[in-house]
Amino acid sequence: MPGRRYDIAVIAGDGVGREVTPAALAVLHEIAHQSGFVLDDVDFPWGSDHFVRTGHMMPSDALELLRAFDAVFLGAVGSPEVDDDIPVWGLILPIRKGFDQYVNLRPIRLLPGVDSPLAGRGPDDVNMICVRENCEGEYSGVGRRMLTGTSREVAEQTAVFTRAGIERIVRYAFELANARPRKQLASATKSNALQHSMVLWDEVVAEVAEDFPKVTVASYHVDALAARMVSHPQSLDVIVASNLFGDILTDLGAAISGSLGMGASGNLNPERKFPSMFEPIHGSAPDIAGRGIANPIGSIWAGAMMLEHLGEDEAASRVMAAIERVLQAGKFRTPDLGGDSSTDEVAMAVQNAL
Ligand code: IPM
Ligand code: MG
Repeated sequence: MPGRRYDIAVIAGDGVGREVTPAALAVLHEIAHQSGFVLDDVDFPWGSDHFVRTGHMMPSDALELLRAFDAVFLGAVGSPEVDDDIPVWGLILPIRKGFDQYVNLRPIRLLPGVDSPLAGRGPDDVNMICVRENCEGEYSGVGRRMLTGTSREVAEQTAVFTRAGIERIVRYAFELANARPRKQLASATKSNALQHSMVLWDEVVAEVAEDFPKVTVASYHVDALAARMVSHPQSLDVIVASNLFGDILTDLGAAISGSLGMGASGNLNPERKFPSMFEPIHGSAPDIAGRGIANPIGSIWAGAMMLEHLGEDEAASRVMAAIERVLQAGKFRTPDLGGDSSTDEVAMAVQNAL
């Protein structure tokens, strides 16, 4: 199939986003070249600097501009100069919600050659994937503050769960579990304390389960599930979780996989009505930004997920195999994994391993 070409919108963003994104793109261009396709990338210099200059994280027609692309490749946003909610509500969430990227898919794998902080655990023990709801729930944005600054101040933050929103994420998770060898699904709930939203969640899980007789499903309160990820990670295969629960569990997942710098994610619109967006799960890490030592693996892995989404499955698995070879060899790794290599050295090693 000659002439395959994909238009990629790149938002490197802030902090280490600007370091890992070009490093990962170099790997992606190399695999594209070797595989006979072209990634035509266009840089969008949006983020906190743009906010400081213009008062907006991205222009008002950003979604119209991005819509023409096959995928969005995001680094990270967030800066000490800008209040935390601005990058989130000014860039990440408008894209996730505006493009109906309701699946946030986050693999949690301890790769060969990487040490887990969990004693005695290896790659066979930590091999799961989280399907995080990405458009509603605790991130609905509904709420208000009243009597601001007074001693009687009130803040309300309302989680909004819809049957349709739960059903589509749960169905996606069941389909994924059904396609995996172990066919196990763990649903993160908290229906004891959240007696409205999480009871609806559990009911929908039970209903959708009827369509997937081969999948073994278990519901765990999210606190117990967090403990299980640490004490019995080998018992977990696919996890389905609400927006905030999934956010928390996947940082834990990255930590037990060796480093926050390892986590990758795809914000997917499975119907492909809109572009999907791929990003490492780590943030802009202002504490280490500018030093060239951020781990590029999360971003490269997110790039592999993007290739898979674009239908370049073989290229995607070759990138993953190259990551694994480099980690296994142990010569090049960034300080978060106990090494002293730079971002570029690790990315170059992955590129050479292709
Ligand atoms: C993530 C991040 C974001 C989230 C923040 C930046 C809003 O933590 O992608 O996990 O909570 O979704
Ligand atoms: Mg997070």
